[in-house]
This record gives sequence, C-alpha cells and structure tokens, in this order.
Amino acid sequence: MFPNIPLYPGFVAQRQSTMAVGHRRSRVLSGTMMLIFIGLLVVVARMMGQHKQSIHKLNVPLRFWRWWTWSESFWNREQQHLDLLYNPILNVAPTRDDSLVARTPWWLNNSQALKPCEPDHRVPRQVGDYNTLPQRFQDFLLYMRCRAYPILINQPHLCDDRPFLLLAIKSLAPHFDRRQAIRQSWGRAGNVANRTVVTVFLLGTASSVDHFPDLSGMLSHEAERNRDLLQWDYRDSFFNLTLKETHFLEWFSQHCSNAPYILKGDDDVFVNTRQIIQYLEHLPEGMTKDLFVGDVIQNASPHRDHRLKYFIPESVFVGDYPPYAGGGGYLYSGPLALRLYKVSQQVALFPIDDVFTGMCLKKMGLVPEKHKGFQTFDVDKKYRENPCVYKNLILVHSRTPQEMIKIWSWLADPRLDCQNSTR
Ligand SMILES: *[C@@H]1O[C@H](CO)[C@@H](O)[C@H](O)[C@H]1NC(C)=O
Ligand SMILES: *[C@@H]1O[C@H](CO)[C@@H](O)[C@H](O)[C@H]1NC(C)=O
Ligand SMILES: *[C@@H]1O[C@H](CO)[C@@H](O)[C@H](O)[C@H]1NC(C)=O
Repeated sequence: MFPNIPLYPGFVAQRQSTMAVGHRRSRVLSGTMMLIFIGLLVVVARMMGQHKQSIHKLNVPLRFWRWWTWSESFWNREQQHLDLLYNPILNVAPTRDDSLVARTPWWLNNSQALKPCEPDHRVPRQVGDYNTLPQRFQDFLLYMRCRAYPILINQPHLCDDRPFLLLAIKSLAPHFDRRQAIRQSWGRAGNVANRTVVTVFLLGTASSVDHFPDLSGMLSHEAERNRDLLQWDYRDSFFNLTLKETHFLEWFSQHCSNAPYILKGDDDVFVNTRQIIQYLEHLPEGMTKDLFVGDVIQNASPHRDHRLKYFIPESVFVGDYPPYAGGGGYLYSGPLALRLYKVSQQVALFPIDDVFTGMCLKKMGLVPEKHKGFQTFDVDKKYRENPCVYKNLILVHSRTPQEMIKIWSWLADPRLDCQNSTR
C-alpha cells in the first residue's frame, strides 16, 4: 500500500507511550515485566499447591492487558482476544474458565459461540459507526474471523524438484495477459542463471457479486496447460488480499517448504530474476534464515480520510503501523515463511495485506530490511526507457505485459553494454 508517513495528529495522544519508545527499550521492558510476571505466577502456584482448595482463585491481573493495549477498536479487540488465547502464561493458569473469564470485558469473551465462517451479525452492534462505513469494511468485518477457504485449483507437485526461488504472484482471474507475459519473461520457470525457478499465480474467485463474467472454463484450461495456478474460493477483492497471503503461506508449508527463497509480488511489476539470484548467491551465510527485504516503509499510520483507498476508520484500528515492505514485491526466505505461517494464525486479519505481514513480522521480533533495488514507486521517468537501469534493479512497479517482455529482451541481449552507462 501507499504509506501515510506523517502522523495523524489525534494519534500521538492515543498512542501508548510504551509503544512509542524505541523497539529495543520496549522489548527489554516487556521482557522484564514478563519475567516478573512469571515469577509471580510461580509463587502463586506454589501457594496453591499448599492450599488445594484455593486452586480456582488465581487472579490474573487485568491491568497487565490494559497496560499492553487497551482499545475499543474492533481489530485491536480481536487481537487482544487472540493474545489471550495464545498466551502461554495465561493458558497454563488453571482458572481460564471461571474467575478470569468472569472479569473479562465482554469483547474478550464473545467469540467462541459462532462458527467462524458464518457472517457475524453481532459485529454491526459492536462497531459504533458500522452502518456508515464503506461497503468493503462491512464485508470485511462480517467475515473477519473466517480464515480457511477451500482450494479450487491446486498444484501439489509444483516443488517436487526443489526450486531455488519460488515466484508467487498475486493475480486476478481476468489477468490472462499479465500472467502470460510473466511466463514469457521474468517468470519463465526452469533454469535461470543455473538455478531452478518455479512460478505460481495466486487467485481468489472473480465472483458474480462483482459482475465478473464466468471465467472458470478458461481458468481450468490455463491451469491444465501451464500447471502454475492456485485458486481459493473467496471473493478476490482488495481487502481480501490478506487471505491471499495466509492461504499462500499455508500452501507453501504443505507443498513447497523445501524452497529456500520466495519472491511474492503483484502481476504488474517487472522483476529482474537473474539479479535476485545473484543477490541471493552472494548473501552472507548468517543472513539467509531471517531474510525479508523489500521497499520498506517505516513510521506509517492509518489514513483517516475516508476518500482514500487505504482509509482505515478509528472504529476498526488504532495504533501505528509496524515497519512493512510494500506489497508490490518482497523477497524472503522459505524457513521464515514457515514461521510466518504459524504466527499469522495469531494475528487478527487486517484489511491491508502488506501491513498485516508487517504485523506478523513484528510479532516474531523481526524488522524487514530496505533494499534500494525494490522500486515500488517506479524509477524516475527519464530513465524508464534505459535498459541499463534495469540491470541492477530487483523489482519495479508498474509495467504492462508488453513492457515486461520488452525489458526482459533488453536484459537478455548479449550486446547490452552498461560499462559506460551513468546509471
Ligand atoms: C463470558 O462467557 C461466559 C460463558 O460463555 C458467561 O457465563 C459470562 O457471563 C461471560 N462474561 C461476560 C463478562 O460477558
Ligand atoms: C551449475 O550448477 C551445477 C550444479 O549445481 C554446477 O555443478 C555447475 O558448475 C554450475 N555451472 C555454472 C556455470 O555455474
Ligand atoms: C472476502 O471473501 C469472503 C468469501 O468469499 C466474502 O464473504 C467477503 O465478503 C470478502 N470480503 C471482502 C472485503 O470483499
């Protein structure tokens, strides 16, 4: 997404001071608090061992959560609920079912009742301005808890010959020409620079709700011919891109976990695949495990102007965005993707996919790294027709299918000589 770097004025006040201080300091602080808290639990548990009758009276201090994050915004509430579910300390507490629950605010205690994939009709009452929110928010909030949609087109054997690099491209069913241009240029599967590259396109459903023509016949033909499509049965909308991310991570864990590197990007970018391979081959040994590079945006916060594409109302989310890599394209390691998949299940779905991935990284204690080869805001206009500009780039947004093929042929031309080039 496009960042909103300047802080929204109302924010500074809302933001909790503990979050605003440097990461390290707050981590040290929370680590210390955690240790004290564990210590207290141990003492309490000992005491309970001596007085068996009082075993159900353990008081988990709610202030702990209040201090952490305390907000009535819907996403923040959902996140606190997940934190409670997945917090190892609170889960060992023997009183999860009575005294803790009794003291829990209603919004930490209300989600077990429903099947997650049925529309949650309590949401309109829980989000104050629900009825005046744009339709996409109403759609998103109603199904926010549903995280598992059936797979319609799968390629379980795509990674049988352990690829060095997996190119995972977010596409939309009608974008046949973009996918074909990628196959004929930077996404050509097979041997590139003496390494195995595999390409896969990620699709949801172009549904009749959005007045898409029925493309299922053409898609199955395309899938059979190229064996590089993955499709899941959710509505392929902007706010559902986060589902594309989580479903891809799940698929990767199940069917491609042996691939050491992944580039995930849009279908309207140009990628210099050879440059990526060269970059990866020259990575220092220690950098590969936690590799996550891209066009990283720091210090962004939600847009509060409802006319913008990236508008997020306060009733949905308050807080700053973590550092995140722009969704146009980023490069990360396979082992990190496996950890990302696990953590993603503990993070409430956020309607902007790249920010969501940043949230997951933050939960893992990682910060994505900026690399100037990722030009998600494009290069200066006067350089766009200069083949040498693309030689050292990793990714540039945006390019048409024809431009992709043209640029790729420039780079493949052995006569291309950039020795005397200024760039
Ligand atoms: C939480 O849920 C339990 C049972 O599901 C219920 O008995 C209790 O009253 C609820 N607490 C609050 C504060 O809503
Ligand atoms: C290509 O890869 C193979 C196997 O990994 C290796 O033996 C060979 O030397 C490589 N060739 C070049 C030109 O790097
Ligand atoms: C996401 O997909 C689900 C399943 O198709 C749909 O019910 C929901 O409305 C979609 N959400 C958005 C924001 O489009």
